[in-house]
Amino acid sequence: MILIDGKKAAAELRAELKQEVAELKAKHNKVPGLTVILIGDLTPSQIYVRNKEKSANEVGLKSEVIKYPDSVEEKIVLEKIKELNSDKTVSGILVQLPLPKHIDKQKVIEAIHPSKDVDGFHPMNVGNLSSGYESSIPCTPLGCYLLIKKFEPSLNGKKAVVVGRSNLNGKPMTQLLLKENCTVTITHSKTKDLKAECLEADIIVAAVGIPELVRGDWVKKDAIVIDVGINKTDKGIVGDVHFEEVSKNVKALTPVPGGVGPMTIACLLKNTIDCFKRSQI
Ligand code: GUN
Repeated sequence: MILIDGKKAAAELRAELKQEVAELKAKHNKVPGLTVILIGDLTPSQIYVRNKEKSANEVGLKSEVIKYPDSVEEKIVLEKIKELNSDKTVSGILVQLPLPKHIDKQKVIEAIHPSKDVDGFHPMNVGNLSSGYESSIPCTPLGCYLLIKKFEPSLNGKKAVVVGRSNLNGKPMTQLLLKENCTVTITHSKTKDLKAECLEADIIVAAVGIPELVRGDWVKKDAIVIDVGINKTDKGIVGDVHFEEVSKNVKALTPVPGGVGPMTIACLLKNTIDCFKRSQI
């Protein structure tokens, strides 16, 4: 079994992006800028945002974090987004989720101009991705896709099973695999026989948020398995895949942590640079 090293792949991607930022700076005399809005004081969100800022600085991006208290009014946030939309030094805007209950997530997502939507959550980007047009692609599925492609460059005709149908992961993942000519099955909590579906798969992407759901006898021996799960349990953080069992039975697997996670942040930087490049045309 080969362990797919997301930490290493992310470091390689960051090195490439750093080089690209230096070239863009030489060409345009400016660097791409990422602005993150963080509302409230949820610890995981604070950690994510700190890591995003650190990585952005590392590759040479201009990075800014705007913080609001949990009680901030929705209209203040929407006004700020409007201001950032017309700020030429800002290439990408990300509003960290989840949001406090009194703020309408969809309104916030739709307020971000699609050309600065580094999350790829705006309906315009969702539509463009599903139509096969150029778009921002959500960072986690993009990271999964790059890990799969690095391991297996041709996915033509492969059977892929995506476990989970979220807008954040499952649905965009399906689009990316379809674009690569995979035959994709998207499964979810109401799927009749999930084990039987997974046993058909050359590629499994597990993104449901159920600890160790995918077991050792659910996988083919030459399968590639990508674990998107980050689940807090009594025995620590585990993925959606039972690592010990599945690692004995497949060709390749991503660990948790150190698999998809590091790639997600690197892809956010990539998306910011891509938004910048599109804005310079
Ligand atoms: N919170 C957890 N994951 C994400 C993400 O990919 N984007 C945003 N904006 N918030 C998140």
